[in-house]
Amino acid sequence: MQLRFKISAYLQYWLNAVDEHSLHSPFLFEFYRHVFKPRPDPDPTIEALRKSYLHNQRILKLEDPGAGSKHGSDQRLVQHIARYSLSPVRFSSLYERLIRYRNMLTVIELGTSLGINTLYLSKPEGVRVYTFEGIPELVQIARQNFNSMNRTNINLIEGNLDTTLASFIDTIPSVDLVFMDANHRYEPTMRYFETLLPKCGNHTIILVDDIHDSPQMERAWDKLRLHHRVYTSVDAFRFGILFLDSSLSRQHWYWQF
Ligand SMILES: C[S@@+](CC[C@H](N)C(=O)[O-])C[C@H]1O[C@@H](n2cnc3c(N)ncnc32)[C@H](O)[C@@H]1O
Repeated sequence: MQLRFKISAYLQYWLNAVDEHSLHSPFLFEFYRHVFKPRPDPDPTIEALRKSYLHNQRILKLEDPGAGSKHGSDQRLVQHIARYSLSPVRFSSLYERLIRYRNMLTVIELGTSLGINTLYLSKPEGVRVYTFEGIPELVQIARQNFNSMNRTNINLIEGNLDTTLASFIDTIPSVDLVFMDANHRYEPTMRYFETLLPKCGNHTIILVDDIHDSPQMERAWDKLRLHHRVYTSVDAFRFGILFLDSSLSRQHWYWQF
């Protein structure tokens, strides 16, 4: 069922995906060219860290507060997490480019894991990243990574998002970028989105990871892209982009990536 579901989701994406030549809006054309199209720019230090985790056989006991692992029980090897749960470098690199392109200052990441993606998000000068993680062992590892790379612009908020997000959101005036990559279920995805919305403005961009990962996530994506605060949405298959800018027309795109 899962495989058939994924194939049909990919087929729909593949049949509809376009590149910048189909984009008539100057804003979207430029966005595609500057954010989507460039080749990834791997950071050698971060990639060395990722590589070390790909060989790390430490076993972590995890009680995933989210949708759970698709790859086994609540005991997981660090190398498994590094292989299956992290954003691959070409995506992390794109998110970093997006932050630079829009001079973003406040970024929220739901779901830290080992913190590899967070290290990319926190690279641009001036940015502050708030990242959320519910598993204490992962919090400890991610903290170590942030300290060893001297990333004082990252705030790691520990605990279940069901309780941490609502109290956190009152402490910031606004957010430029949200990366939703934690609890891959319909209800919490919608709930976290509604919690974040009061701090989102016209300029805010929301990225939603794994939008075709399961029927629940696909349902959430369909609901989000049709939300009244969303003007333009982009399906990049692995993740989706929601633009809240009311000067954009209401449209939905599939972009080749
Ligand atoms: C897919 S991983 C995040 C990967 C990371 N953002 C990246 O791009 O490499 C999802 C993480 O979210 C965490 N998570 C899931 N549900 C959560 C919740 N309700 N509260 C806090 N953390 C949660 C999991 O423990 C897991 O480490």
